[in-house]
Amino acid sequence: MSEVVIELKNVLVRRDGKIVLKNVNLKVYKNQIYAICGPNGGGKTTLLRTIVGITNYEGEVKIFGEPPREAIKKGVFSYLPQRSPMDYTFPATVYEVVMMGRIKKMGLLKIPRKADKEEVLESLKLVNMLEFKHKPFSALSGGQQQRVLIARALASKAKILLLDEPITGLDIQAQLAFYDLLKDLKEKTDITIVIVTHDIGVVPTFVDAVACLNKELFYHGAPSSELNMELLKKVYGTDIGVLVHGHHHGDT
Ligand SMILES: Nc1ncnc2c1ncn2[C@@H]1O[C@H](COP(=O)(O)OP(=O)(O)O)[C@@H](O)[C@H]1O
Ligand SMILES: [Mg+2]
Repeated sequence: MSEVVIELKNVLVRRDGKIVLKNVNLKVYKNQIYAICGPNGGGKTTLLRTIVGITNYEGEVKIFGEPPREAIKKGVFSYLPQRSPMDYTFPATVYEVVMMGRIKKMGLLKIPRKADKEEVLESLKLVNMLEFKHKPFSALSGGQQQRVLIARALASKAKILLLDEPITGLDIQAQLAFYDLLKDLKEKTDITIVIVTHDIGVVPTFVDAVACLNKELFYHGAPSSELNMELLKKVYGTDIGVLVHGHHHGDT
């Protein structure tokens, strides 16, 4: 097995005095795609926030062997939070949005150099959005915007990409294209990806591990092998029949 990138041991998180995560143990290895599914309110977003060090927790969280608050200073994370309506009207071109991923790498004057420009174009190429570079970001479809935001993450040279429900709201075509993109990134880069979805019907087989989260982690390992109905019922309760048919109960 390759290097451990993310490790959680006995993690517990409280919000407003209420326990929202407990007994969470997980390991994510380099270049893996790790999917976290589970019902609304199950703690998926909280888990991502814990990994990137913006939530208080008890227990141990290690990112490349260090606490998140150390790792974050080195720019290892690129965290795409759940979609907000603001994303759609962002007043910049595709090229400019991706260049924002280079800001931390630039000098004091924040003037892009040749290396920055090359990195932006290279990242746009990786997500198949090069031909859109002069388009306004706001003019793109949701799926295309998602790709551009991933290009921005790649340009920043983040080592861990965390995606919170990235396919929610995309049409089926765009969802499939998005999964193709993830598969492509896994092959062409050494980035490690944690993807959150509350729709378990669509976790594809190239994902290396699936964890179902409802306050506790009910399972983790390779998809399809043991991801059976019995277990899913345990995690989702009575919602399961609806969920496997791809319907959502509204988003958090
Ligand atoms: N800012 C907050 N303050 C208090 N409680 C919160 C906050 N954010 C989330 N919670 C609670 O934490 C639990 C997990 O929420 P969340 O991590 O958003 O779940 P998910 O992303 O799986 O829908 C829920 O019970 C939710 O009400
Ligand atoms: Mg959430």
